[in-house]
Amino acid sequence: MLTPGEEKIDTSNLPAHIAVIMDGNGRWARQQGAMRIFGHHHGIKAVKDTVEASAELGIKYLTLYTFSTENWNRPKMEVDGIMQLLVTTISAEVPELHKNNVKLKAIGDIASLPTKAKRQLQDGIDLTKNNTGLTLILALSYSGKWDILQATKAIVEKVKSGELETDDITEQTFSAHLATEETPDVDLLIRTGGDHRISNYLLWQSAYAELLFLDDIFWPDFRKKDLIEAIAEFQRRERRFGKTGDQVKN
Ligand code: IPE
Ligand code: IPE
Ligand code: MG
Repeated sequence: MLTPGEEKIDTSNLPAHIAVIMDGNGRWARQQGAMRIFGHHHGIKAVKDTVEASAELGIKYLTLYTFSTENWNRPKMEVDGIMQLLVTTISAEVPELHKNNVKLKAIGDIASLPTKAKRQLQDGIDLTKNNTGLTLILALSYSGKWDILQATKAIVEKVKSGELETDDITEQTFSAHLATEETPDVDLLIRTGGDHRISNYLLWQSAYAELLFLDDIFWPDFRKKDLIEAIAEFQRRERRFGKTGDQVKN
């Protein structure tokens, strides 16, 4: 099935890994005169649309910033509401994900999540582990600095035990110890909500990502057409990786 608007993009040249900072739920809710949690609820529709479109288009990896390490500092009522929403959404959506051949993964300090959320998440991961379509990675209690630290600690342990030599630590070795493991680096990083910052997201993995900040869309309004527009913008950019324009054209 063709996703509406798909003709705007070249499906043979898709970003392998799209990462999204799903921002603006609170402001969206305020615009409606509602509580912040109302915005989070409406964000689910945008998540579903984005996952569905990514799977249909043939994107390999989609990483969604769902809850950051820093988000634990929000008022308890909001944190509890988000965790509750996580539990209900995962249990409601996993069957559909499985049907669509999506493989669910999670990165972050998963141990810090409430028991129920951890259980739902693990069940979903187990059920979908052999799926071969889109890999959907939820960043939960995640931060880029946390990730770099935990990778460093794991590497230090291996060096101490003699499993790894200091001289053998390459960029590849380091990447493999990050929570994203074998996932390729981020090609396209999208942030809704109008702020132009990374907010401690996939710091190492976004080293050469194309950054796309959407000023006019709060996350709950993000739809398939916006993902297609974002991919079209990605395809208009010239990725040079340090080389000259002439070098990459030839
Ligand atoms: C993003 O929306 C969702 C999470 C951080 C969980 P926000 O809740 O940050 O919404 P704004 O930025 O306050 O509008
Ligand atoms: C980033 O959004 C985290 C998520 C979208 C989950 P925030 O709203 O927490 O980011 P800051 O604090 O404004 O940078
Ligand atoms: Mg925000």
